[in-house]
Amino acid sequence: MSSPDKNRQDRDDIPPGATLREHVYDGIEEYDQRLPNWWLWTLYITIIFSALYWIVWYTFRAVPSDEERVTAAMQEIEARRFAMVGEIDDDTLWAMSRNPNVIASGHTVYRDQCAFCHGDDLGGGMGGGLPLDDGVWKWGHAPVDIYSVVRDGSPDPTKGMQAWERELGPRRVAEVTAYILSYHDPENMETAQDSPGRASER
Ligand code: HEC
Repeated sequence: MSSPDKNRQDRDDIPPGATLREHVYDGIEEYDQRLPNWWLWTLYITIIFSALYWIVWYTFRAVPSDEERVTAAMQEIEARRFAMVGEIDDDTLWAMSRNPNVIASGHTVYRDQCAFCHGDDLGGGMGGGLPLDDGVWKWGHAPVDIYSVVRDGSPDPTKGMQAWERELGPRRVAEVTAYILSYHDPENMETAQDSPGRASER
């Protein structure tokens, strides 16, 4: 650090009205100027804003957080989907079974929950899980009959087919039913001849 130059204020490379501060570092000098008002006010407003923000956001929690808003939106979407599932009928299930997005979600459910007993290819599996690809249905061949077996379980409680509604919710029950239906056509569905569920045949 070199010693300050006594005559620095008089130098002609300094703008009028400006003063130089005493120090010099590596030949770098500094004006001693008042900060411009726009700069100072930006700082003051920022400070005031941060105080208000703290009070509104953290002290009173007056504004819902991003997470709360996303959760609320998700709940509403889920509620609407449930409402849609409430009106489930044969036509809806057939239409869902031709929708690639529904089939994809239904396939995921099937693979995770059903394939063990009904086979990866729906051909039947462990524990007496009936084949789901043969177009022959024990408890009625209408899509809503099949939907009911998945939702409420087999009407015969001695068989190992549980009710899935509580675990999966109505939407995923409908999706996995649609996935199964995607292997079938309305013309090639029948209720098994010796079916205890024949009474419900339509
Ligand atoms: C623990 C083994 C097991 C699991 C897991 C299982 N099932 Fe079943 N499922 C059965 C059995 C056993 C039956 C036959 C019930 C009967 O005889 O009434 C059956 C019957 C069915 C039927 C009626 C078939 C027909 O021919 O009428 C459908 C549809 C069905 N299951 C779908 C599903 C779906 C969808 C899942 C997954 C969400 C699933 N099952 C998971 C064992 C299982």
